[in-house]
Amino acid sequence: MKNIMSNNVIVVNHPLCEHNLAVIRDKNINSDGFKNSMRRLATILILEATKDLPLKKYNIETPIKECTVNKVDDDYKIIFAPILRAGLAISDVASAIVPDASIQHVGMYRDETTLEPVWYYDKTPVYYENPEKIKVFILDPMIATGNSSHAAISLFLKKGILIENMVFVSILSCPEGLSLLTKDFPDLKIITAKIDECLNERGYIVPGLGDAGDRLFNTFEK
Ligand code: URA
Repeated sequence: MKNIMSNNVIVVNHPLCEHNLAVIRDKNINSDGFKNSMRRLATILILEATKDLPLKKYNIETPIKECTVNKVDDDYKIIFAPILRAGLAISDVASAIVPDASIQHVGMYRDETTLEPVWYYDKTPVYYENPEKIKVFILDPMIATGNSSHAAISLFLKKGILIENMVFVSILSCPEGLSLLTKDFPDLKIITAKIDECLNERGYIVPGLGDAGDRLFNTFEK
């Protein structure tokens, strides 16, 4: 799995990532505990993913004096694209942290036989004006086969978004999915909290955490 060691795959090493991953992996943790730890992980990953947001100088007045400050450059449009439904765990946090972001949902479910994504929702516009001024963060807690991640990235590329303006944010990933993405999109930046061992024959990450959507929305049967 040499090609996953791309410079563009960033594994965020932080004690709080380890701690919260331990919580969400545990099948006996309750739904509130799962959601809380997902939110904490999403916060850490979003801060890492948005580290390079462009800043612009603005003149303001404090109650004391005029001064020049840096704010996120409002010439840029920031888009968070959660892959439904588990991506909502990250977009909720992202929109709370990042000012004036647009949330553009994309919906896919996985055909359990072929493990291929089946589209059911796409809230992206037909095309984007000034794509050089658009930053897209695609959000999915799991990069498993990489098939739905691949489909979402391809959608944004087809609509003119530049690969260097895209970041994929995923809590857990595995070598199979990362290999696919780094092979087809070597310039894509991927932020993840952990690369797990492998995929099982049903396309689940091992050891993983089970179905992220089911656990998040409490539709999980132990
Ligand atoms: N999607 C999930 O929610 N979990 C996996 O392990 C793989 C894909």
